[in-house]
Amino acid sequence: MVGAGYVGIPTAVTLSHFGYSVIVAERDLSRLGELRAGRSPIREEGLDELLAEGIAAGLLTFTDNATEAAADADVVFLCVATPQGNGGEADITYIIDAATSISAALRPGSIVVNKSTVPVGTAARVQVALGRDDVFVVSNPEFLREGTAVHDSLHAERIVAGSDDPRHAEIVVQLFADTGAAVVITDTASAETIKYAANAFLATKLSFMNAMAAFCEEVGADVRDVRLGMGHDHRIGMDFLNPGPGWGGSCLPKDTAALLYMSQINNFDFPLLAGAIETNERQLARMVSKIEEAAGGLDGRTIAAWGLTFKANTDDRRSSPAIDIVQRLAARGAIVQAYDPTVAPGQVYADLDGVSVMSSPRDAARGAHCLAILTEWSEFSLVDLADIYSQMEHAAIVDCRNLLSAATVREAGFSYQGVGIR
Ligand code: UGA
Repeated sequence: MVGAGYVGIPTAVTLSHFGYSVIVAERDLSRLGELRAGRSPIREEGLDELLAEGIAAGLLTFTDNATEAAADADVVFLCVATPQGNGGEADITYIIDAATSISAALRPGSIVVNKSTVPVGTAARVQVALGRDDVFVVSNPEFLREGTAVHDSLHAERIVAGSDDPRHAEIVVQLFADTGAAVVITDTASAETIKYAANAFLATKLSFMNAMAAFCEEVGADVRDVRLGMGHDHRIGMDFLNPGPGWGGSCLPKDTAALLYMSQINNFDFPLLAGAIETNERQLARMVSKIEEAAGGLDGRTIAAWGLTFKANTDDRRSSPAIDIVQRLAARGAIVQAYDPTVAPGQVYADLDGVSVMSSPRDAARGAHCLAILTEWSEFSLVDLADIYSQMEHAAIVDCRNLLSAATVREAGFSYQGVGIR
């Protein structure tokens, strides 16, 4: 396993749990030290237990040397980062570097798997970088959600494997047989496309729902009821229909931008996807307007921001809508007091310039003219509203996650604004 990140670690522990011997290569030495000590450097439920299990069984070992890990392997998973380039494209430098560096060490007949999300055509480029015709490339995208990555890996809904020769894809599929997942074996370009199609579809679904929420506000409908009425149709389904502050994280924004970029360079006009991205931008701006209105302005006003991660049950703030919103508020002159259970006060954070990190929801609310709920941490629905009311300068709540009950909040004396609700 080359790369111990949000994809590499859950995949490694899944395979060791299934009884395979896994060597994880990671260049970041502090991360490597954590892993060797059996501690997960990322916050994922169930990870520490499976790490301990794999290490105790002698099935899970770690090295800082990818070549050494690859030399012993029948299958090498490339799980390194593919950051977003300036034009929106996914940058595959790390993938190509990894392939080049392990090439000479690979055993004849071994398989190199692209697990990272990579542009269509990358499998062919990796084959070129390997420079050998006795090792084979398989594209095997992952569909793990942060926060439930271990569960999603152990109980995958589908395994997609693409290769020039289906026998090679079959070998990769077999590794995950214990998941009981549906299997889709295809060519490499289709496997690579499936990953982008899935994430872009999810993003489009969310943008549609966020737009419907705005529509509901205009006509006096309640988007939560609209969701129920839509979602009972199994063709639509209930999942991924909750409006919010906009979608974020390390995947949906990056993958939609990359798909749009690939469309453009292939001269394919994709207004639906461009619209989903544009709608997301608007959603973030709409949240800032709601907060501004509720607080009676922004310049010099104190805003309590509850939640900074891109969703609950993760400590990841990459491309977080919450970060985007607090930065916009601070840029407009607001005094932002933020609380998030995964962000410790008293430290400097590059993404939280101009934002004060507080140690409790109550502290964040002190003296605030508006309280904005930006991430759906369950602890926010358990607070004593009367106590929060007593802390605030102006009792206004903008609930960008529709986490609280509007009636309860209003009974407690607050003005309440959700997303798409009356
Ligand atoms: C996403 C996909 O869901 C995974 O299937 C995929 O494997 C992963 O990207 C990836 O490419 O690696 P993740 O980034 O963990 O997973 O985040 P999601 O759970 O999809 O949430 C994305 C954003 O949508 C978050 O900001 C979340 O708050 C928002 N969201 C989600 C809503 O606003 N409403 C919903 O109903 C669901």
